Amino acid sequence: MGRFGGSLISIKDLDRDSLEEVFAATDRMMAMPAAERREVCRGRVLGYLFYEPSTRTRLSFEAAMASVGGSSLGIADAASSSAQKGESLADTVRMLSMYSDVIVLRHPLDGSSRFASEVSGVPVINGGSGTEEHPTQAIQDLFTIRREKGRIDGLKVGIIGDLKHGRTVYSLLHGLGNYDVDVRLVSPEPLRIRPDSTYEIRKKIDYVESDDLADHVSELDVLYVTRIQRERFPDEEEYLKVRGSYVVGLDVLGRMKKDSIVLHPLPRLDEISADVDSSPHARYFEQAGYGMHTRAALLGLVLGS
Ligand code: NCD
Repeated sequence: MGRFGGSLISIKDLDRDSLEEVFAATDRMMAMPAAERREVCRGRVLGYLFYEPSTRTRLSFEAAMASVGGSSLGIADAASSSAQKGESLADTVRMLSMYSDVIVLRHPLDGSSRFASEVSGVPVINGGSGTEEHPTQAIQDLFTIRREKGRIDGLKVGIIGDLKHGRTVYSLLHGLGNYDVDVRLVSPEPLRIRPDSTYEIRKKIDYVESDDLADHVSELDVLYVTRIQRERFPDEEEYLKVRGSYVVGLDVLGRMKKDSIVLHPLPRLDEISADVDSSPHARYFEQAGYGMHTRAALLGLVLGS
């Protein structure tokens, strides 16, 4: 996104100044009267193409586009569209770019969004690709931390869960690399972060890996919990071995700092127990809410309005 006004493919393309620009635009969006906000992208069209299931990313983009005066159209389940007849991703993207001003793509393959941006006539926003990239989620996560904690620099952030398969983890780590943070990565041994995908992250953040949350929980300002990505396991047996291996419940919260917050990109399965929802630490639904505003700000920036 050079710097804005083009595609948004990877969080790695955004430096600290660009992130701060999105956050400032989001603050302005949230403060804007609804009638003024509806002028920001009035009449513009968002096209979406989802080759993997999604609830929040697609709906928050649609809600975001509506809030800035535009409309959305697209394919929520591309696997059952003409792709089934054998239409290529390239043709589908070319076609959709005739009907829209910006495209949001979610796809199981790494590199899919970059490829789409090369054949599309309009900017492409990566709505989640493969196991490495989910830039708009990372922006939403960083915005939530900044908004709920007042800053990002100086915080201790724990990330727990399926660090091997979760793309939100990689995007968040790259985003956090622009700040001065202390990161703890906690996971069962088979779900540790992939060393081959962390070469660049290591240059920016010094993180500690652990398989026991108890070693870190009392120091954390932010605990970011992720789901085990069952669909990305090559073998169901391997999934069954780690299922239920970590649960954040009231016992964990009892050991956390009073003002610490718990985040989750959602969907949540059983890794956060339902009784945590009403605790003052829980901010994952607020996080989902902020996602609509960060995406509205991004649409404004990408569309140059
Ligand atoms: C995430 C994803 O698609 O990677 N979902 C989302 O956009 N919030 C997280 C997940 O599926 O676990």
